[in-house]
Amino acid sequence: MSRDLPHPPVIAWHRRLSARVALGYLALIAGVLTVQAVVFLRLVEQGESNNSPELNQAMAAEFSRALESNPHLDLDQALTRLDPSEAVFVIIKDGRVSSPRKPIPAGVLESVMSSFEHPITDAVLRAWVTSRYVGFPVVVRGEVVGALGTVPLTTVERYGPTVAGIGAALLIAGAFVASVLIVGPVRSRIQELHGAAARLGAGELTARAREAGADEVAELARAFNTMADELQRRATALHASDRARRQLIADVSHELMTPLTAILGHLETLSMTEVRLDDAKRLHQIAITTREAKRLERLIGDLLELARLEAGGGELAIQTVDTHDLFDQVVAHHEHECRQRKVDLVHSIESDAATITADPFRLEQAIENVTANALRHTPDGGTIRMRAERGDGTIVLTVEDPGEGIAPEHLPHIFDRFYKTSSAKGMASRGSGLGLSIVKAVVARHGGRVSATSTLGVGTTIRIELPSPASGRFASGRPMYSAQTA
Ligand SMILES: Nc1ncnc2c1ncn2[C@@H]1O[C@H](COP(=O)(O)OP(=O)(O)OP(=O)(O)O)[C@@H](O)[C@H]1O
Ligand SMILES: [Mg+2]
Repeated sequence: MSRDLPHPPVIAWHRRLSARVALGYLALIAGVLTVQAVVFLRLVEQGESNNSPELNQAMAAEFSRALESNPHLDLDQALTRLDPSEAVFVIIKDGRVSSPRKPIPAGVLESVMSSFEHPITDAVLRAWVTSRYVGFPVVVRGEVVGALGTVPLTTVERYGPTVAGIGAALLIAGAFVASVLIVGPVRSRIQELHGAAARLGAGELTARAREAGADEVAELARAFNTMADELQRRATALHASDRARRQLIADVSHELMTPLTAILGHLETLSMTEVRLDDAKRLHQIAITTREAKRLERLIGDLLELARLEAGGGELAIQTVDTHDLFDQVVAHHEHECRQRKVDLVHSIESDAATITADPFRLEQAIENVTANALRHTPDGGTIRMRAERGDGTIVLTVEDPGEGIAPEHLPHIFDRFYKTSSAKGMASRGSGLGLSIVKAVVARHGGRVSATSTLGVGTTIRIELPSPASGRFASGRPMYSAQTA
């Protein structure tokens, strides 16, 4: 079975989840970059002020004081304690050197050490201050004993760690905010959908997802709910058909059992040697047994017939049927009983309903069943009317009887298999309740419909509508049944 699949719904771009996620991340990255740029610029500004010669000079003075108070000062420790933002180094006249952060560039150490071979003149000090590396003298008790300098840091060395640290922190915080604001709600909705799918999978057919929103998740939820509705509908239909199947098996067994029990009972009586039966009684027993066996045969025949018709088996031999012939055959079939019970079976045929396109055998079978019912329910001396007329694109055949009628609560069910009204159940040996089911199946196979109207105490009319070949109505062949009560 192939069905046109619905197109996925068109979602406005600004409502799409992908657009919201992309915009969210764009905002996050823009925010991180802005903060990074501001931090970087502030750091550069600060770095320039940190680098000032005044600061280095103050550091040299501080270092000098420390060395003055402790000639055996741990140079590395002392330099670190000054907490310089630059890679500061110190070279002492006695050969001690400290440069904790970066190695002293080649040549600088030699040039400073060689300066100490002569008294340090003002010219040397000026040269130090203006040089690229060496900065200020380390002075202990008025004597220049060393020099403090800086090895400039590269931009990456200077700002890299701070910028990277702040960037990482911003990214982590931003990702957290994004996950809470963007991914979080989506995740919880998908989880909800997952929960609904799991519950549906576990057999809870009423499980549905929340459809709020207009994005992809909402569309998915809607599609899921449509699927769940369809599943529930099918499960209900399956349940109903399963129930109907069980009911059918029970009904069939019961209906077969009744004549079979009767047959077995009579056969047992006949076979009892101790019971002496005269010929008349024996023949009576055999007659009852034969009748019950025939009933059983008819019942099984009807069941097979109905199964074949409903399963679409047995091709219809469609041809033009003369309505007069059809009605005459039915009347002839019941002539004997009608004469005995003084029942009139009359028919009228409109000129434009003189022929019908149908399977003559099947159609006669249907009219025959309806007429047999009418006859069964018509009191002696009554009149049954059969009519053929043209309807709206149809040929309408009606059988109207002046019987006791059908109560409104029974009327909707008379076309069901094995359905008998309670009064009919009293006449147990009369029918099996399959006649009208066969009528329904025959008419449905012709693409027509059958209905019943009835008034208690007045009578019943069964109406069979068959598509007239010119009209093309019921072309789909869809069966239609109805039952009405007046
Ligand atoms: N013309 C009618 N007047 C009153 N009741 C009717 C009439 N036709 C049908 N019914 C009721 O509808 C029930 C179903 O009819 P249906 O023809 O299917 O079964 P049946 O006549 O009992 O058995 P079967 O036709 O198999 O011999 C009947 O048992 C009867 O109670
Ligand atoms: Mg019947």
